[in-house]
Amino acid sequence: MALLEVIDVTQRFGGLQALSCFDMIVEEREIVGLIGPNGAGKTTVFNLVSGFYTPTTGEIRFRGKSTRGMKPNQVTALGLARTFQNIRLWNDMTVLDNVRMARYHWLGYGLLDAILRTRRYAQAEKAVEAKARHVLEIMELEDCATELPKNLPYGLQRRVELARALTVEPSLLLLDEPAAGLNSADVDGLIRQIRWIHENFDVAIWMIEHQMKVVMTLCQRLTVIDFGSIIASGTPVEVQKNPKVIAAYLGEERL
Ligand SMILES: Nc1ncnc2c1ncn2[C@@H]1O[C@H](COP(=O)(O)OP(=O)(O)OP(=O)(O)O)[C@@H](O)[C@H]1O
Ligand SMILES: [Mg+2]
Repeated sequence: MALLEVIDVTQRFGGLQALSCFDMIVEEREIVGLIGPNGAGKTTVFNLVSGFYTPTTGEIRFRGKSTRGMKPNQVTALGLARTFQNIRLWNDMTVLDNVRMARYHWLGYGLLDAILRTRRYAQAEKAVEAKARHVLEIMELEDCATELPKNLPYGLQRRVELARALTVEPSLLLLDEPAAGLNSADVDGLIRQIRWIHENFDVAIWMIEHQMKVVMTLCQRLTVIDFGSIIASGTPVEVQKNPKVIAAYLGEERL
């Protein structure tokens, strides 16, 4: 059974058809990419898969189970975590707390548990702290544990987002433009870290990314969309040579 199946999904926003008949399968432990010009519908795909939107038509299955009607945290509980194109961190909490809170959210501990300090909560707290520190170490963020994200350079904020997604131990990680805004040294660091994560965690990664270096180095296959429809798929080398893809990107500075 595939890890993720997106079957004939269409998404309409009022009169706008953002996505048409979109199909995709992600197998366990794959690294795959989704690319396409600005406004093509890439983030919409991730918003659908992670439960932020409900498809107008079509079906999304995670390990064979339909996610229709599920809230984003219910989809996370199935084993899916994501990062956002525009960083979404809790800016008034430390980096460590940002990473810890993601896990609490996933474990389903509410504010009441925290206030009443139930035994269940106390036990979980220790495990969560250890897990969060481990993830910070992996992402080379130990030195920033007590900092507020807003005081960190942009490249580190992106890494905190990735750490937060990892802390829920996903089997599928969706990364929406992880290299956006990074300088070239940070991009190399990101490639190294994504590769490390993939080799050391039992995780499939599906990324949206404009930087060819990132997708060419990391992705086994790519899907290309333009105006909400798939126009090509294949290995990065095949896709890069595809005339439809070249035409879609004409006038675009990127790719
Ligand atoms: N919640 C929404 N309501 C209305 N329209 C939306 C919504 N979300 C996305 N859209 C529209 O759907 C289209 C696809 O947007 P989307 O963000 O998925 O593109 P993208 O491929 O991620 O682009 P970019 O490369 O700029 O991030 C755009 O025309 C966008 O304006
Ligand atoms: Mg986008």
